[in-house]
Amino acid sequence: MKYKGIDIISLHDLDRSFLDYLMKKTKEVKEGKWQNACKGKIVASLFFEPSTRTKLSFDTAIALTGASVIGFSSAAASSTSKGESLSDTIKTIDQYADIIVMRHSVEGAARRAAEVANAPVINAGDGANQHPTQTFLDLFTIFELKERVDNLKIGLMGDLRFGRTIHSLVMALSFYNAELFLISPSILKLPSYYLDYLESKGIKYHELEDFTEVGNELDVLYCTRIQRERFADPVEYQKVANSYEISRDNIESLAKNTIILHPLPRVNEISPTVDDDPRARYFYQAKNGVYTRAALLGIVAGSIS
Ligand code: NCD
Repeated sequence: MKYKGIDIISLHDLDRSFLDYLMKKTKEVKEGKWQNACKGKIVASLFFEPSTRTKLSFDTAIALTGASVIGFSSAAASSTSKGESLSDTIKTIDQYADIIVMRHSVEGAARRAAEVANAPVINAGDGANQHPTQTFLDLFTIFELKERVDNLKIGLMGDLRFGRTIHSLVMALSFYNAELFLISPSILKLPSYYLDYLESKGIKYHELEDFTEVGNELDVLYCTRIQRERFADPVEYQKVANSYEISRDNIESLAKNTIILHPLPRVNEISPTVDDDPRARYFYQAKNGVYTRAALLGIVAGSIS
């Protein structure tokens, strides 16, 4: 019950013992324990920004735990489109729901919601900032497929500048002393805030542009799409739009046991022709989103302990 009622806003607020606990409970959920643990609870699912996997895997997780869902899947479908403030929308939904799950395009929106709501708020992505629940399923997948996270060599490739899944994952991996290979075009490098964070934690990292240089050393290659919607200037986007792709031509530069992960959606950074390579595990990874989110809902509801 230690984590009952906590908000899940940023990896910054969490620690290794929370992540280890969540991983343990996720495994139990995946093994079939805890079905209907949240029966009678109401979860508000507020997606002010588009989503496929995060929204639908939360919906599936809610069904698995026996809770009920209310909500909307676009800002246009909420009263913010009539000019209502985010705080007023959240204060109202707080009257109906036991847990609030929220995605929003503005960085810091989830934290603002947590300040005004009594119900626990789970950040399902706030702008280019953080996406903690994606990180939880990424970690769970690495634990399952590699049996540990400590001391792994992990490549993070793509839009390290705007990718919120990257920002959350970098922080989580620093709890496990992974060695990081930050692979991106130069204009999409990891922001200095996160580099400073890694340095403060004594985490070894290397910045490079081409994954084939280090592919045979990697335990995990975590690939991301370029976040087109976060570019102020479309010309800047075009400059990097096709700058990397995992394909049949270069996949053999990876080791035999490197796993390829991706939060999805992909655009052109992984060719579908490699989907049946045994190293490609991104759809398997997506399925783990259901178990991780079900465990998280149960933990913050105080129904799983
Ligand atoms: C990610 C997101 O929304 O940040 N998608 C997801 O939740 N699986 C990644 C992305 O949109 O590129």
